[in-house]
Amino acid sequence: MASSALICDTEPWKDLKSHVESIKKTHLRDLMKDVERCKSMIVESDGLLLDFSRQCATQGTMEKLFKLAEAAHLREKIDKMYKGEHINSTEDRSVLHVALRAARDATFYSDGKNVMPEVWNVLDKIKAFSEKVRSGSWVGETGKALKDVVAVGIGGSFLGPLFVHTALQTEPEAAKCAEGRQLRFLANVDPIDVARNITGLSPETTLVVVVSKTFTTAETMLNARTLREWISASLGPQAIAKHMVAVSTNLTLVEKFGIDPANAFAFWDWVGGRYSVCSAVGVLPLSLQYGFSVIEKFLSGASSIDKHFHSTPFEKNIPVLLGLLSVWNVSFLGYPARAILPYSQALEKFAPHIQQVSMESNGKGVSIDGLPLPFEAGEIDFGEPGTNGQHSFYQLIHQGRVIPCDFIGIMKSQQPVYLKGETVSNHDELMSNFFAQPDALAYGKTPEQLLGEKVPNHLIAHKTFSGNRPSLSLLLPSLNAYNIGQLLAIYEHRVAVEGFVWGINSFDQWGVELGKSLASQVRKQLNLSRTKGEPVEGFNFSTTNLLTRYLEAESG
Ligand code: F6P
Repeated sequence: MASSALICDTEPWKDLKSHVESIKKTHLRDLMKDVERCKSMIVESDGLLLDFSRQCATQGTMEKLFKLAEAAHLREKIDKMYKGEHINSTEDRSVLHVALRAARDATFYSDGKNVMPEVWNVLDKIKAFSEKVRSGSWVGETGKALKDVVAVGIGGSFLGPLFVHTALQTEPEAAKCAEGRQLRFLANVDPIDVARNITGLSPETTLVVVVSKTFTTAETMLNARTLREWISASLGPQAIAKHMVAVSTNLTLVEKFGIDPANAFAFWDWVGGRYSVCSAVGVLPLSLQYGFSVIEKFLSGASSIDKHFHSTPFEKNIPVLLGLLSVWNVSFLGYPARAILPYSQALEKFAPHIQQVSMESNGKGVSIDGLPLPFEAGEIDFGEPGTNGQHSFYQLIHQGRVIPCDFIGIMKSQQPVYLKGETVSNHDELMSNFFAQPDALAYGKTPEQLLGEKVPNHLIAHKTFSGNRPSLSLLLPSLNAYNIGQLLAIYEHRVAVEGFVWGINSFDQWGVELGKSLASQVRKQLNLSRTKGEPVEGFNFSTTNLLTRYLEAESG
């Protein structure tokens, strides 16, 4: 395929299109009878097990998908990413988040320069600083240790670190390291979020970490100014030097804000915001909470998947398989959504993080060369931990729309509980659901089965499950820092695979700009109306009316 051609014009794409009809005639009930097929759809690597036998696909489908990968130059695109080529072409940048978790002696180049010395300089600085804070040798203005951290940031400067923090909170080794400490996240510009985050904290014992790649994001900067004021009002402006640090690629703006550059932790333009959890964005707040050695394990889990992704043949490559199956579900079977269903409460913030990684990356309408896409790219990601989700939206997944599901299970719980007198442990109970749901979706229940169970006639239609609803099951050995890193990297690379095959740029996000600039016009108007009493002007009828009503309520 020529680099400017669209993937949908290639033979493998057309071949898959015509293959759909025959797949639609099959039912998972029958596909699951073929044990050889099922065996070929299980992949194991480094303690992980992926079973994709409940995808509406045959071995023939997989072969066609591998041909599609070839037509999309998937291997070359992955190599270009690892080589630091400017694959984020609209921003003219490398995409090198894999370097953030690579070993000290690894080499990754961006613009001809090995980035690893800089990566490890920052990691060493985080290690030293977090140890000082945790040991109490770095103290606040009044001489007290800083036991609480508020990380101020939004989007990629928030969701990934929150996911990892939530996942580590109940992990025994990490929890022990975090004893007596608190980590909170202030993201929303809503003053309610400020109130929630500072309630119960004292400026005397709080360290604020301002996290912003650009250091210009309106929400983050307003929240940072709010917390700067909170500290200053209580301890005096000189206290900022001890109570506020920053993570950014824009160290000039950090200094302008009033944070000592010595207390700034850098990252680089080759790290996309939503791929930045392994940079100081995540590593600093998480190391303050859990200690650097725990977070190093998280980085090494992610790095193990980076190696797997780069070197494993596609047939056994977990992110590649997941990415190709997503393309199959979205672009060929016509299922635009995906449910992410971790059977672990510790992963409650995983779906919100992946939502950004996936939807901000692949929600695009043009190819990387700017050609309008004649097909829909991107996926609608959502999810909740099981079993909570089962009592919420699973009804729709079982009998309403078809939504491919990712079931994520953990073999050994972080918190095993065995109640006396119960037949199984609490974790076994949870996992019973993890194992049952994919089969319920795949097999469904026929009217004949219901008649056999003597279900009254008038309920047969209501109680019938059509089945043939695709899912995949990913089993992790446990949920320690290493496994959390593995999970993160699997999903990051899966999103990249989808984007590479669709031929889009998964690493820019122009779609967030328009709303930001319109908000700035509204901000100007609110200021003029509030300070000078000027009427609302320059907006359409609806917005003028809404703004006028808002101003009349004097809610500011
Ligand atoms: O939502 C748009 C976005 O640019 C994200 O891509 C990014 O993660 C987030 O805003 C925050 O940006 P920054 O880290 O520059 O404050």
